[in-house]
Amino acid sequence: MFEGERPTGSKPQIYRELALMAEGLFRGERDAIANAANLSGLLWMGISDLNWAGFYFLRGEALVLGPFQGKPACVRIALGSGVCGTAAAGRKTVIVPDVEKFPGHIACDAASRSELAVPLFSATRLVGVLDLDSPSPDRFDEADAKGVEVLAALWLAASDFI
Ligand code: SME
Repeated sequence: MFEGERPTGSKPQIYRELALMAEGLFRGERDAIANAANLSGLLWMGISDLNWAGFYFLRGEALVLGPFQGKPACVRIALGSGVCGTAAAGRKTVIVPDVEKFPGHIACDAASRSELAVPLFSATRLVGVLDLDSPSPDRFDEADAKGVEVLAALWLAASDFI
């Protein structure tokens, strides 16, 4: 059903194209889980050099695994723990160039070398984290952070939360 190919060009061009694809995928559907599942598939297909891409949702005081692509991962992450818990607790995107140098990094997949975690807000309420892992060191920069933040914002605007 989805005929898109991995976009090419500069990072801003790639993320612009992915944003158009995401809007197409979300059109006519407001289920947050279904849209998260499709966004994780789109990230996996559209962004090079990843070994994990997916969601954690806030459930009480913990982040709980949501739709993702990659190897099976840690199910629960406490707020403030690891890269995802740090992004959630600090309410700010976190770029980690070298996960081995990040205190408290949670190694779900030993292949991960760098990571990008974007917190997700419905209005001002924290609903989760969108997390990308790469097997290459220093894979993510500000252009990736901005691009993934835009995709996260599209998912948030397109989805209803209970
Ligand atoms: N490395 C993350 C855990 C999640 S996985 O990478 C899928 C962290 O430190 O929060």
